[in-house]
Amino acid sequence: MRVILGVTGCIAAYKSVVILRLLQKSGFEVFPVMTRHAQEFITPLTLEKLSGNKVICGVFDDRSTEIEHIALARRSDLLLMAPATANLIGKMAHGIADDFLSTLYLSTTTPVVLAPAMNVEMWRHPATQNNLQMLRKRGVVIVEPEPGYLACGEEGEGRLAQPESIVQTALEVLRPVKSLLGKKILVTAGPTIEDIDPVRFISNRSSGKMGYAIAHEAAQRGATVTLITGPTYLPAPSGVRVLPVRSAVEMRDAVLSHFADADVVVMAAAVSDFTPVTVEAHKIKKATASSVLQLHPAPDILEEIGKLKQSQFLVGFAAETQNPLENARLKLREKRLDLVVLNDVSQPGVGFQSDYNQITVISPDGECEDLPLLPKHQVAQLLWDRISKRLFAIAPEGARGA
Ligand code: CTP
Repeated sequence: MRVILGVTGCIAAYKSVVILRLLQKSGFEVFPVMTRHAQEFITPLTLEKLSGNKVICGVFDDRSTEIEHIALARRSDLLLMAPATANLIGKMAHGIADDFLSTLYLSTTTPVVLAPAMNVEMWRHPATQNNLQMLRKRGVVIVEPEPGYLACGEEGEGRLAQPESIVQTALEVLRPVKSLLGKKILVTAGPTIEDIDPVRFISNRSSGKMGYAIAHEAAQRGATVTLITGPTYLPAPSGVRVLPVRSAVEMRDAVLSHFADADVVVMAAAVSDFTPVTVEAHKIKKATASSVLQLHPAPDILEEIGKLKQSQFLVGFAAETQNPLENARLKLREKRLDLVVLNDVSQPGVGFQSDYNQITVISPDGECEDLPLLPKHQVAQLLWDRISKRLFAIAPEGARGA
């Protein structure tokens, strides 16, 4: 396998040396390409000596008859941009080809993986986020930067992801591991909305991002995935059947009608616990309204399927702000779960509405594993690793996935 390693001008450029080495260890031949600014941080000679290949820096580096960016694009299996600056991301999003690397991007038909690195405000800027969204829609795989201490002295998201996870992503893109092939997986996500009247409702702050990432990752691993989702603003994950619902009752009905057929159910939705006794057909007028809203309990979907479960592997979430471990273990027992994912939502930047999550995975045998604060798509990967380990450990021989 041949990888083009595109290196752009930021302090994290020095990490491209480690990335190059890890790519080689994974069996890749590496063709480095550097922008003009990247050469301010490391020299082409370093990457040339390590890769054993000429490092291309400019459009007119090679005066042979070959059109070099086209020839290189055709010779490779993957284009990996690491680190990628906000400038490169902007150029890629808008089709600007004013140097070798951005021209190469337009010429390539291979998968593209992008590992951004920049200042936290540059990362959060709507221009950067919109550009990334455009690239994601085109199928570019983004290895999200990590939060932490940045070279500029500020703290926040923007630090280049770990070289190991960048190379792992490159490997998965080229050789996706279909470890869940043949498995039917039901995932719920988002909030539910409990209507009071045509203009008012009760809901919660769930964005749906965690559940969508879990559904996406299961599909990547070859599973047949159905995502039952409350209202969110998220695009449908590719390769996933999406069933939109609104209320807890609608979600319950959808879950029950797919439950018997499922091998694994992951209840990541933030289901309302209460719903109004009556939904008014017309807007309640304040002059005639009572100041007390009558509620009754919404169905506890997970508890219900916990009672019905046969061979299904059930994963629940526990969103807690107090006594997190104790409360999560209680949910594990009471809802007859095979795993519970604890979210301490009292921590800043964790869980609801954030792109990051920090989870603790707790199993009935008492194992309790804290995972680091990570982008939700990486949390989803780690969670599926843990679910798979247990799923295949308890499945009878022959019933295991491919
Ligand atoms: N859940 C559910 N139906 C509900 C409420 C929750 O299926 N009506 C599921 C959630 O999807 C989650 C798990 O149960 O997987 C735990 O949800 P959580 O909101 O943490 O706890 P609750 O069971 O609602 O209990 P409490 O609000 O008292 O913490």
